[in-house]
Amino acid sequence: MAKDVIIACDFPNAQTALNFLDQFEQEKPYVKIGMELFYGAGPQIVRDIKARGHRIFLDLKLHDIPNTVKKSMAVLSGLDVDMCNLHASGTIAMMQAALEGLTRPDGTRPLLIAVTQLTSTDQERMENELWINRPIDEVVLHYAQNAQKAGLDGVVCSPLEAGKVHAACGAQFLTVTPGVRFADGEKGDQARVTTPLQAAQIGSDYIVVGRPITAAQDPVAAYRRCVREFLMEGNA
Ligand code: C5P
Repeated sequence: MAKDVIIACDFPNAQTALNFLDQFEQEKPYVKIGMELFYGAGPQIVRDIKARGHRIFLDLKLHDIPNTVKKSMAVLSGLDVDMCNLHASGTIAMMQAALEGLTRPDGTRPLLIAVTQLTSTDQERMENELWINRPIDEVVLHYAQNAQKAGLDGVVCSPLEAGKVHAACGAQFLTVTPGVRFADGEKGDQARVTTPLQAAQIGSDYIVVGRPITAAQDPVAAYRRCVREFLMEGNA
């Protein structure tokens, strides 16, 4: 199964993102475009980065009525992205509609993964604000199983949850995991982190890495270190 390092290109505009990617002369990293860059630069940034030969995870986390999500996913699929996502809390019907919208006339489609509970949501907020009175681990697994029932390819989750998700949903069900830091690096605002090697050992399929690469003095070297730890040492 494909495993890879995805760089979170959290930049405010197209020029900054393209200047960042210009530094990669020998490799074409898998790139995550999130809301900041997409809303700042518009859909053309997806076409531009795609035209340079990168694979793209478009992280827009859709959540709306099934018909709206279906039509929006059809637009995103037309942008030729490789992976996109939505909130599992939008219900199985919404996720199924999303898959229909994503599927191109020739039967191909981008991978579709679900956010279960955001890693910024903790047990207390989930109970007191969302009125969900179950342990958050169970909620994450239940939402992952809903995503699987709907036919999705996997979930976004903490690397620390990747093993449990695979145990519940099978080895083929993808785990895409942010919250990755080098052992000697800054944690920033991420609370529960693992190193690339630990993420590989727990079973992440794709790690999403932002600031440890984008804010590094030498982003290419930081990317190569991630690839080495996650793909090579993690497979050893
Ligand atoms: O800079 P850093 O490595 O923390 O970036 C992680 C990326 O993954 C960011 O784009 C962030 O929005 C995203 N993400 C996350 N936690 C989630 C879902 C997405 O950190 N639960």
